[in-house]
Amino acid sequence: MKHRSEHSPATKRVKYFLLGLIACLGLVCLYYGSSFAPGSRRSDDEASGSDPFFGGFARSRDFDDLHEDQEHNPEVPKSIPICDIKFSELIPCLDRNLIYQLKLKPNLTVMEHYERHCPPPERRYNCLIPPPRGYKIPIRWPASRDEVWKANIPHTHLAQEKSDQNWMVVNGDKINFPGGGTHFHDGADKYIIALARMLKFPGDKLNNGGNIRNVFDVGCGVASFGAYLLPHNIIAMSLAPNDVHENQIQFALERGIPATLGILATKRLPYPSRSFELAHCSRCRIDWLQRDGILLLELDRLLRPGGYFVYTSPEAYATDPENRRIWNAMYDLLKRMCWRVVTKKEQSVIWAKPLSNSCYLKRNPETYPPLCTVDDDADVTWNVSMKRCISRYSAKNFRNRPQGISSSGKEGSMRSLTKGISCGISWGGARTGYPRLSPHPHQKNK
Ligand SMILES: *[C@@H]1O[C@H](CO)[C@@H](O)[C@H](O)[C@H]1NC(C)=O
Ligand SMILES: *[C@@H]1O[C@H](CO)[C@@H](O)[C@H](O)[C@H]1NC(C)=O
Repeated sequence: MKHRSEHSPATKRVKYFLLGLIACLGLVCLYYGSSFAPGSRRSDDEASGSDPFFGGFARSRDFDDLHEDQEHNPEVPKSIPICDIKFSELIPCLDRNLIYQLKLKPNLTVMEHYERHCPPPERRYNCLIPPPRGYKIPIRWPASRDEVWKANIPHTHLAQEKSDQNWMVVNGDKINFPGGGTHFHDGADKYIIALARMLKFPGDKLNNGGNIRNVFDVGCGVASFGAYLLPHNIIAMSLAPNDVHENQIQFALERGIPATLGILATKRLPYPSRSFELAHCSRCRIDWLQRDGILLLELDRLLRPGGYFVYTSPEAYATDPENRRIWNAMYDLLKRMCWRVVTKKEQSVIWAKPLSNSCYLKRNPETYPPLCTVDDDADVTWNVSMKRCISRYSAKNFRNRPQGISSSGKEGSMRSLTKGISCGISWGGARTGYPRLSPHPHQKNK
């Protein structure tokens, strides 16, 4: 009996099937284990052949939670309908029709209409946004840096408007991105090297040995600057509003470049203070002098001590009276904010904010802009208005920061600063790109 069963083809099949199943489960575990492990590359995505949209996400916990909710909460619909195709680009909190329907009166002068205004519960759609007609599975990174499917972002207006600046080119059923921008027609890669050269960074590397990791690109266009920073081991958060240039961010995201819709208007941007080592504005069309420089003060909040502001704009180089006037006023304001010009060449100027409070404290106490009061929490951002004051450097949240930070004597260098970061803050960003700013208790001694 025993002898026979061991050799029966049926049992053998069952055995092989079970072995196969275990092997499959093992592979599945490996796949999920590795794709969520920090620092891993999802190079196996390609091979797995799973649907990129539903394969990865439908099985996730959120989906199960939703089902659970449906059982316990009768208000959650049993199934979610698909919205009308006209909503295929709906962004609920950035919906111009909503502003109109709710008779909100945003202050257009300060661009309040480009800030978030979320619908009250009775105006929410509760339907699934359908993809645009002809939607194709997006082209993968890194090819997507240079081309996306036109059907996925059916807007070609920018290609015509910015045709002389090499932003993007319509090419059959694709849109190509030659990598140009208003101030870098020859490509962002050359521009990035030129900036590193201006800052005299070793080997013309803007990353400067890991000291520049997180960049904030304001008025980013289609985010080519951010795209070309990635090979330099720098992550840029590219920001632009959904304005006359249509939704530039859609192109950036379709390309696979970190970007978000937003604007420097009245509310603090949703980043804690000291989030970025470098801010960039290339012809970003922002009036930095408005409202006593409140937008520069917000930028100051976002920059780490010693952080840079790269400004590539006619005000930095043009010699006509109007541009001279703006330049002088900006220079004066930033000087009062203790920023200094590190370098100025051709179309760009690069400022650096101070490494410590000492310059602020040396100012005449009457000087505008004042330091923010000690009780101002520079890290609180949700629905907080921008303030006309300088977020002071504080040791808060940086308990493990070594002393070298504020006592760095090395001008123009952020080495000591970044050393502090890697010790004091869990620099998860080194792997995932999203630095955690306050140390987790269990990671304190890392
Ligand atoms: C809009 O903001 C500007 C600048 O702060 C201010 O001067 C103006 O009075 C505001 N307009 C309205 C309608 O509130
Ligand atoms: C934001 O704050 C204002 C007042 O400062 C308040 O009227 C508004 O309801 C808040 N909005 C949200 C979404 O919390």
